[in-house]
Amino acid sequence: MSESTIVLITGANSGVGYATAKTIVSHPNYHVILACRDASKGQEACSQLQTTNTQGTLSVIQLDVEDDASISKAVNTVSEQFGRVDVFISNAGTTSPGSTGRDKIGKIFSTNVFGAMLVSEAFVPLLLQSRRPCLIQISSGLGSLALAYDLQSAHSVAPWDEYRMSKAALNMMTIQMHKRLKDQNIRVFAFCPGLVRSMLRGSSEEAVSAQGHAGDPMESGKAIMEIIVGRRDGDVGKFLHKGGCYPW
Ligand SMILES: NC(=O)c1ccc[n+]([C@@H]2O[C@H](COP(=O)([O-])OP(=O)(O)OC[C@H]3O[C@@H](n4cnc5c(N)ncnc54)[C@H](OP(=O)(O)O)[C@@H]3O)[C@@H](O)[C@H]2O)c1
Repeated sequence: MSESTIVLITGANSGVGYATAKTIVSHPNYHVILACRDASKGQEACSQLQTTNTQGTLSVIQLDVEDDASISKAVNTVSEQFGRVDVFISNAGTTSPGSTGRDKIGKIFSTNVFGAMLVSEAFVPLLLQSRRPCLIQISSGLGSLALAYDLQSAHSVAPWDEYRMSKAALNMMTIQMHKRLKDQNIRVFAFCPGLVRSMLRGSSEEAVSAQGHAGDPMESGKAIMEIIVGRRDGDVGKFLHKGGCYPW
């Protein structure tokens, strides 16, 4: 097990996180820790993954990125079980469908910004125990200030103001982490998984499929695998998507 690359994914029971776990665990010599706020959903995802073509190994931990006690407990558990994390994928996120006003912006920032920052910082000491550490923040093209301002860009059209603001803040955090951690050899990236099917926008088929526009999250998983194996190392510290880089 200690020879395997240890990958931890937050929000791994659904959508992009689940597809990424499925992609990674289809390769040998990877151990994927499914970090899920609802441990029973994590176990269910793990059981489902074990029915697929798994060559790597899997485990589940409870991790709510909005709960400091849960974060500390998860860090201690991973430290005791593995002693390090090689790849940390900060994926948990929300658009808080159904909420409005202060509740909506509070929930979105609590998860996508405060949660992502505090959980990522908490796992840095375990990343520093890795020979080849990598930290991937799952962002969105909707968080790009440059694309939002470019009226020719498809990314300038969608509303989603609170979500956009949260991903713009996440991008700033990624830049800051990259500058601080690059000399300690942590490869830090922001990555947009593209518009793909998931529960992010709600649970109706219309929301899951983004009115029929959403692609397959397995494509996002494959692109994340490219980052993990080093094929995007020329883009360390940048805002990646499957086919290139976005402007911040
Ligand atoms: N799908 C897209 O088109 C798209 C596009 C661009 C970016 N993204 C980004 O991709 C990431 C994954 O989203 P998704 O599309 O896969 O949506 P999803 O299917 O809704 O998955 C989100 C995951 O995050 C988890 N989560 C939410 N709050 C959490 C918390 N406080 N602590 C721990 N886990 C929490 C959810 O857990 P529960 O199941 O318990 O709710 C779920 O596992 C997000 O950061 C999203 O912004 C997605």
